[in-house]
Amino acid sequence: MSEKSPEVDFDHHSAEYARDPWAANIALNTHTPVAYSRHHGGFWLVSGYDQVSEVAHRPEVFSSEHELPNTPGRPQGTVVPASSFRGIPLEVDPPEFLQWRKQLNSFFSPPAARRLRPRIQQYATWCVDQCVESGEIDLVLDLANPVPALITLDIVGLPMDDWRLYADVVHALVYTHPGTPEFDRVEAGFGQLVGTVRDVIPQRRADPGDDLISFLTQVEIDGEKISDDDIVAVCNAVIPGGVDTTTALLASTLDYLDRNPEARRRLIDSPEQIPAACDEFLRYYTPVVGVGRTALEDTSVGGCPISKGDRVLLSWAAANLDAKTFPNPDVIDLDRDARKQAAFGIGIHRCIGRHIARMDFEVVIGEVLRRMPDYQIVPGAAEKYSTVGQINGYVKMPARFTPGPRTGPDAATVTELPRT
Ligand code: HEM
Repeated sequence: MSEKSPEVDFDHHSAEYARDPWAANIALNTHTPVAYSRHHGGFWLVSGYDQVSEVAHRPEVFSSEHELPNTPGRPQGTVVPASSFRGIPLEVDPPEFLQWRKQLNSFFSPPAARRLRPRIQQYATWCVDQCVESGEIDLVLDLANPVPALITLDIVGLPMDDWRLYADVVHALVYTHPGTPEFDRVEAGFGQLVGTVRDVIPQRRADPGDDLISFLTQVEIDGEKISDDDIVAVCNAVIPGGVDTTTALLASTLDYLDRNPEARRRLIDSPEQIPAACDEFLRYYTPVVGVGRTALEDTSVGGCPISKGDRVLLSWAAANLDAKTFPNPDVIDLDRDARKQAAFGIGIHRCIGRHIARMDFEVVIGEVLRRMPDYQIVPGAAEKYSTVGQINGYVKMPARFTPGPRTGPDAATVTELPRT
C-alpha cells in the first residue's frame, strides 16, 4: 500500500458495521470508493459502483481462484478472510471457468427455474400450512429459511429428510464470527454435511436422476468426467449460495412490508408487481455484502496502487447505495428502475442461481401476502445477525396473523408430499 492511499478502519465482520451497514456503506462510497483496511490480514475495500464494476470486469487481474491451504500472497478465493472450502465455479478463473459455467448454465437456465416453480410453491404452501391454523409463525425459521433450503437440497439431489440440519448449519455458517471456536464448530458441521454428497455420488453415477449431482456425473470438463472432489466443490458453492442469501432477501422484505403498510397494500392488490419490486429490495438489502478477489499483478483502481497478491473486497452492498448510480440510495422506491443493482454480482461470476432466487421471492412473498396479509412481526422479537460479514440477514422473526385454513396436501413431512 502506498503512503498516499486512503485507509479506513473497516471490518465487515464487526458489530459496529452490523449496527448500520447502510450509513457505513454510503460514507464509504462517497468519500473513499477505494481504500485500504488492515483488518483480516489487510485488504482493499472497493465500495463505489463504478470501481466495483471495473474490478468485477477484470477477472484476468482480479482472481477468484482459491488455492488450499490458504497462503498470504497466493489466490485465496472469494471470502475475506478466506474460508477453508473451495467452491466451483465460484472460485475458478478463465479459461477453465468458462467450461464449468457453460455446462452449469444449462442446468440453472431461466426455463429450468420456471419448471421448478410448482415445487417451490408446494414447499411454500407446506411451510405456511404448518403454522396457518395457529396464527403464529417465525418468518425466518418456519418459512424464509426452509423454502430455499428445501428447494436447494431438492435441486442438488440430497436426502430431503435432513433439510432442517442443512438449513441450520448453513444459516449459522454465515452469522458466526470467523476466528471463534463456534465458527470452527459450524465449519466442521458444514464440512460433514457436504461430505454426505460423497456418499450420494456413486449411486447417482450408476442411476442418474434429474438432480445436480446426477447432472455433474454425466458432463465432461476438458474431455474428462468430473471427479468426486470437484462435484463436492460445486456443492460447496451451490448449497450456501442457494440458502441463506435468499433467506436474507425474503426476511428483509417481510420486515420492510411489516413497517410500510402502503407498500404491503400495493403488493397485495397488484401481485404482478412483486417480480419488479424484487430488484429494489435486492438493491437496498443486498444479501451478499461483498466478495473477495486476489490481484494477480500490480495494478491500480480509482487511483490506488494495488500490488500483486493483495486481497480485494468488492462491496456489492456499498455499490448498490452509490448515489451516482442510484439517486436517493437510502430510500426504497418501488417505482425505481433498479435493474442495474449489483446484488447478484457483476461480470462473469454473476449469480448462476438468480433465476431460482427470483422465483423463490415471487412465490414466498406472494404466499405470505395471500394467506397472512395482516401479519405483524412481534415487536422487539426479530433478531438480526450480530455480524453481517457475509450475509446481511435475520436469525429469527416471530410474527402473528389471523389464522386460516391449510390449503396443501395432508403431509406430516416434506418427503410425503406428492412429487410435482
Ligand atoms: C437472493 C439470492 C442470491 C444472492 C443475493 C446471490 C448472490 C450472488 C453473488 C453476489 C454472486 C457472485 C459471486 C462473485 O462474483 O464472486 C453469486 C454467485 C453464485 N451463486 Fe448466488 N445468490 C443468490 C441465490 C443463489 C441461488 C438460489 C443459488 C443456487 C441454487 C446460487 C448459487 C450461486 C453460485 C453457484 C454462484 C457462483 C457463480 C459463478 O462463479 O459463476 N445463488 N451469487
